[in-house]
Amino acid sequence: MKTTDLPRKRKTRWPVAVLGATGAVGQMFVRLLANHPWFEISELAASERSAGRKYGEVTRWLEGAPPPQAILARRVIACDPGVVSAPIVFSALDATVAGEVEMAFAKAGKFVLSNAKNFRMEPDVPLVIPEVNGDHLGLIECQRKNRGWDGAIVTNANCSATVAAVALAPLHQKFGIRQLFLSTMQAVSGAGYPGIPSLDILGNIIPFIADEEPKLEREMLKILGTYEDGQVTSAAFKVSAHTNRVPVEHGHTICMTIGFEEHPTPEQAIDVMRSWKGFPATAGLPTRPDHPLVVSDAPDRPQPKRDVNAGDGMTVTVGRVRRDAILDLRMVALGHNTVRGAAGGSVLNAELLASNGAFDSA
Ligand SMILES: NC(=O)c1ccc[n+]([C@@H]2O[C@H](COP(=O)([O-])OP(=O)(O)OC[C@H]3O[C@@H](n4cnc5c(N)ncnc54)[C@H](OP(=O)(O)O)[C@@H]3O)[C@@H](O)[C@H]2O)c1
Repeated sequence: MKTTDLPRKRKTRWPVAVLGATGAVGQMFVRLLANHPWFEISELAASERSAGRKYGEVTRWLEGAPPPQAILARRVIACDPGVVSAPIVFSALDATVAGEVEMAFAKAGKFVLSNAKNFRMEPDVPLVIPEVNGDHLGLIECQRKNRGWDGAIVTNANCSATVAAVALAPLHQKFGIRQLFLSTMQAVSGAGYPGIPSLDILGNIIPFIADEEPKLEREMLKILGTYEDGQVTSAAFKVSAHTNRVPVEHGHTICMTIGFEEHPTPEQAIDVMRSWKGFPATAGLPTRPDHPLVVSDAPDRPQPKRDVNAGDGMTVTVGRVRRDAILDLRMVALGHNTVRGAAGGSVLNAELLASNGAFDSA
């Protein structure tokens, strides 16, 4: 992460809370925020099962070095806006509770950066990948008007939709996607902790992830849609998704077959992806990788084991771009599901909001 100076006018880091801090995505938030140049963790919240106990006691740390002692010793609190004082909250809540809890925080005037599915498709809620559609944050103004609250809910997408949308954004912008077929191979960390029983997934593939295919299809169209006059018009191409759970720890890999309005050659598509810079206002943000999208020339990449941590987990790697006998092109994309597809994406959303002045009064 870059140690970028705080945005103008701001002298101290913004206090932030993590809701659902004990889970797979919550832990990734804690990892990314522990030394963040703009945000400082002030509170960690989870269910009543964890509230009142020390974070280090109720969290089974999943990977890498554990967070600093001061964080492990902190008491977990309830996900209650009357108890959480931070004006900005990152939500890694289970979808069964996220709807009610996130709405209560927004009503209480807080900025909610959510990973849950509950509000993603609401017309007045931004569904944002900063480099792809940072301009969709304009929806916050009409959300506040519609709902009569001072807070806001900003969502990031389903983890597979995020990987696909980063890879496809430059191609859609340049050549116009007409048809898209995709098939995912999704890591077990995408199912949270403790997630899928080991005997169900070791040496196995599960060709079903509940509700994943419709989520992936509709969210991608909203992300690649256009924002104008306070509303988002979803992209109109046809999309068909298969989603599969595979015995990989981190990283969702997606095979895609794509038809375009204009019919690029593989070389033209590669050029467009390689020269893509993304939404200009994201340049220089602490969590933004130098290259959100990388195209590999190797015949056997991307691979989760080798490419999942590209750009500290924020880079999507594409490979095997080639002609297709039915549509125009085929390719493979890979991204880190709990970093780019979850916590890292949310932190980048917050950085873009902070740099736009959205948190100036927080
Ligand atoms: N994993 C991924 O790759 C991924 C990617 C994108 C989006 N997401 C989304 O991110 C969210 C979190 O996913 P995850 O994989 O981190 O799940 P997880 O490991 O199961 O963690 C769920 C978190 O929610 C908390 N929680 C559960 N019930 C609660 C309640 N009644 N009140 C307050 N907190 C409660 C849990 O706290 P306790 O420990 O106290 O029970 C835990 O902190 C989900 O909405 C998921 O769909 C996940």
